[in-house]
Amino acid sequence: MKSSMMTGAYLLSTGSALPDISISNEMLSKVVNTSDEWISTRTGIKERRLISETMSIIDLAYSASNQALQKAKLHAQHLDLIIVATSSPNDLFGCASQLQAKIGATNAAAFDITAACSGFIVGLITASQFIYTGSYKTILIVGADILSQWVDWSDRNTCILFGDGAGAAILQANQKNYILGFQLNTNGFESNQLCLSYTKTSSQSYHNDLLGIKQGQFSHITMNGKEVYKFAVSKVPESITQCLNELNLSTDDISWLILHQANQRILNTVADKLNIPHYKLISNLQYYGNTSAASIPIALDEACKKGQMKNGDIIVMSGFGAGLTWGTVIIQWHS
Ligand code: COA
Repeated sequence: MKSSMMTGAYLLSTGSALPDISISNEMLSKVVNTSDEWISTRTGIKERRLISETMSIIDLAYSASNQALQKAKLHAQHLDLIIVATSSPNDLFGCASQLQAKIGATNAAAFDITAACSGFIVGLITASQFIYTGSYKTILIVGADILSQWVDWSDRNTCILFGDGAGAAILQANQKNYILGFQLNTNGFESNQLCLSYTKTSSQSYHNDLLGIKQGQFSHITMNGKEVYKFAVSKVPESITQCLNELNLSTDDISWLILHQANQRILNTVADKLNIPHYKLISNLQYYGNTSAASIPIALDEACKKGQMKNGDIIVMSGFGAGLTWGTVIIQWHS
């Protein structure tokens, strides 16, 4: 239904799903030259979940989405739009349509967003714009990634960090707006610091000189850990401060800080730079590692399930990662 009236939006419900297989740091140390002590002290991660051979990203997204729908007491046919933020789809043409079919959201349009670990933030902001313009009323946003399928399991610099998972949230139109503000940034000049590139150098790829075709394939995740670390602890506080300033809010107004769960040291440093006490910092990365686009909605859902969010709470969510991209959304909790 179309309307030219500006309207508001609020987060109606959340859901999350994690695979059953848990890989501890000790188990990883049998695969690469590392230790629980090294991983725990440098990252805060103790274990991560990995999908099984028979499971797909759609299964995780389906389960997280169903939870969010059930909590909202909505049928999938009530959805107008589905946005799946993922960088590890099972189809490069997009996987949101598979989710649409699996949950039976026959009235919903569906598309993917690729923005790596900032994906859920970008998805949430995108969804809110459709609601503000009156184009759609009820939107499902899913952050899902299975980076276990894309890490080089012989590279100890990266394989210790990532895990698989999915988180979902339903955004609904409302007279009052509870998505208070946002801030998005991209620095493509530094994209080589963290990437999953398509290369044409593989010897197994198809070449045809007559047709001038040289096909390639995607390689593994490559990362300059130190540079990504410095980027996160400098840019994320700036983004949050700018967003707060635009809303005439101070860090004291923040009830909860949900950062992309990349590294506990990054989370602590960002909170310290903003003088935000650590009890306001939501963290679960010790159990799941970095689940990319899924990490923020999983953390949000777990906090909701624990009953941490109270009506009126100010929640700051910031994502950051490959691109390089980073951004913040500030919402007010409405229950
Ligand atoms: N186990 C044991 N030793 C390891 C290791 C591992 N898994 N990975 C690297 N090392 C070694 C290095 O080889 C190096 O050894 P050297 O001094 O003999 O050369 C040493 O540990 C220090 O490595 P370094 O890369 O300097 O460690 P670090 O303190 O920068 O920590 C990260 C590495 C990856 C944990 C850290 O840089 C980081 O978290 N960066 C951000 C990454 C991130 O969050 N990416 C996703 C963003 S969305």
